[in-house]
Amino acid sequence: MFHFASGPDMLPKEVLEQAQSEMLDWNGTGMSVMEMPFTSDEFQSIATQAHIDLGLLLDLPDNYHILFMQGGAYGHFSLLAMNLLGKNKQADYIQTGHWSTRAINEARRYGDISIVASSEVSGFDCIPAQSEWSLNEKAAYCHFTSNETADGVQFHWTPETSDVPLIADVTSDFLTRNIDVSEYGMLYASAQKNVGVAGLTMVIIRDDLLNQSMDITPTVFNYGEQATNNSRVNTLPTYSIYISGLIFKWILDLGGLDKVEALNKEKAEALYTAIDNDEQYNCVVNKPDRSTVNICFNLQNESMESTFLKDATNLGLINLKGHGARGGIRASLYNAMPKSGVDALINFMQDFSS
Ligand SMILES: Cc1ncc(COP(=O)(O)O)c(C=O)c1O
Repeated sequence: MFHFASGPDMLPKEVLEQAQSEMLDWNGTGMSVMEMPFTSDEFQSIATQAHIDLGLLLDLPDNYHILFMQGGAYGHFSLLAMNLLGKNKQADYIQTGHWSTRAINEARRYGDISIVASSEVSGFDCIPAQSEWSLNEKAAYCHFTSNETADGVQFHWTPETSDVPLIADVTSDFLTRNIDVSEYGMLYASAQKNVGVAGLTMVIIRDDLLNQSMDITPTVFNYGEQATNNSRVNTLPTYSIYISGLIFKWILDLGGLDKVEALNKEKAEALYTAIDNDEQYNCVVNKPDRSTVNICFNLQNESMESTFLKDATNLGLINLKGHGARGGIRASLYNAMPKSGVDALINFMQDFSS
């Protein structure tokens, strides 16, 4: 069985097996991780190791903090505005699809939000070229969504915003490729796509951006408070952190982000080639902006879509239905999807169209 959902989605089998073997007794403690107080030495050792391993994967510069938080990336659309808009309350946003639009709508409750580039007129089928952006040099930050999970478009370059801090929602491509953290003011991601299970939101933030939050910011969602208190202002999502920690180790054992990036490219290229070489399938996304993790396409004969999905499910290729806002087919190829899963999908697609 291969799962192509947009998240929660497949986890690495090795990680599930380890979690299973440690379920009742973690490391001879007689406790499940789920039963540990978040302040206990045992859980602290798990969280500390996860923190160290994530720092290693990202080659984290010293002036950045990793915060293990809750709220989901959707929650942080508001929380980042509360934490970062500062005194002049102006920010720039790049609109490239469903999730960046939601980020914009949430931030608008808290400040003067400008859409400085958008691909809405063309149905979010591309990333607007940087030369078309009109950035505000007084903005507190510039926000973009590195990968639009619903629309299948992805930034394959890092925006240039001069002194304005760059903030990225990396929820659906976090740890799927190498990234230079020093180019960003802040990155944030929910865990349940490539790096764990629902409940954990990771915020990676440069220290000069802490401590400028609005007074209305809840203490537990105040980035400065969380950084000062080592993400322990309140009870952490302990089990989610444990699972993410296992996944960080799994990625390190695979060979790190360069290796993962190469594997993900190989999977995506194979599927896009199968789509482009078969006139029964059509991907409308501008080629240079196609996502390596959420591959969206349509059947030329859209009336066959439900049969396609049913036949795929019967073969154990599940959750291929596109996002409600976009329709069509979406194959999410996150880190845990093996190449054999993509090959099985391609074989099915070829049989289906013949
Ligand atoms: C790019 C992106 N941002 C934000 C979210 C929202 O994440 P959550 O549901 O964990 O709040 C999602 C969920 O799919 C997403 O894909």
